[in-house]
Amino acid sequence: MPRKTAMVTGASSGIGAIYADRLAGRGFDLLTVARDRGRLEEQAARLAASHGVQVSPLPADLSGREGLEPVLAKLREDAGITMLVNCAGSGPKGPVLQSDATGLAAMVHLNVDVLHALTVEAAKAFAARGEGAIINIASVVALMPERFNATYVASKAFVLAFTQAMAEELKGQGTQIQAVLPGFTRTEIFERAGIDINVIPADMIMGAEEMVDAALAGFDRGELITIPSLADDGLWQALETARHVLGPHLSLKHAAPRYGIPAEAV
Ligand SMILES: NC(=O)c1ccc[n+]([C@@H]2O[C@H](COP(=O)([O-])OP(=O)(O)OC[C@H]3O[C@@H](n4cnc5c(N)ncnc54)[C@H](OP(=O)(O)O)[C@@H]3O)[C@@H](O)[C@H]2O)c1
Repeated sequence: MPRKTAMVTGASSGIGAIYADRLAGRGFDLLTVARDRGRLEEQAARLAASHGVQVSPLPADLSGREGLEPVLAKLREDAGITMLVNCAGSGPKGPVLQSDATGLAAMVHLNVDVLHALTVEAAKAFAARGEGAIINIASVVALMPERFNATYVASKAFVLAFTQAMAEELKGQGTQIQAVLPGFTRTEIFERAGIDINVIPADMIMGAEEMVDAALAGFDRGELITIPSLADDGLWQALETARHVLGPHLSLKHAAPRYGIPAEAV
């Protein structure tokens, strides 16, 4: 069997660390990306010993060009990489109006620009070889923008829309793509943002292992969008159907009658 390699960003903790473990369990060699070299090296030794795969840490601050470039080059040049899992991301420390603009911009850069650059690089490389898979971690807040920090929800709405649109481009190319929309998931993201996870009702928080196992089951089922908490998949299908019903009404020669624009003025 040819060896296959998965690149996992944000692999040093939380959701990314569980992906690294599960993909090693599925026989993938790993390229693990995050800033914390020590954690990546400890994880690499542990996963290599327990799963008998090769784990190569690629310590990098993806927010900086000098950290991102070598990771992009690896995706471009290493034909052994057949999977990219984009987990590196950060959350907000509070509402937008109480946040420092530089911090918000840094969050947008990591959650949007970096994920975008890595996905484009991987999609081009994988599609050229007619193989591969990309998993992007979005969030359910992409569907509930009123419920959370505006900048964060918009960054996750980008991940959802971008993945849906990329799926169209990748159709027939042999490359699978999936967006995962977790609800609250028990990880370090809360501590990093200075949020006490205990203020969130416990029955709204999923363990990271259960979330990733459900997301991988959705991946195996070929789902484009996976919402691990959602028991009634018909609710998501109804939203998608409503969106497609809107389609033919969204770009027309004349303004809608309710705006009162005389036809000859257009
Ligand atoms: N937890 C939730 O409730 C939840 C819900 C929905 C979506 N998500 C999303 O899930 C993804 C993973 O988050 P998580 O909950 O697992 O949080 P986490 O435990 O804080 O993990 C974030 C990961 O990203 C890495 N990272 C952060 N900044 C980086 C940078 N500049 N360069 C490279 N790596 C960087 C961190 O490692 P280093 O510090 O070592 O760099 C860490 O491995 C995020 O996109 C998050 O928005 C989380």
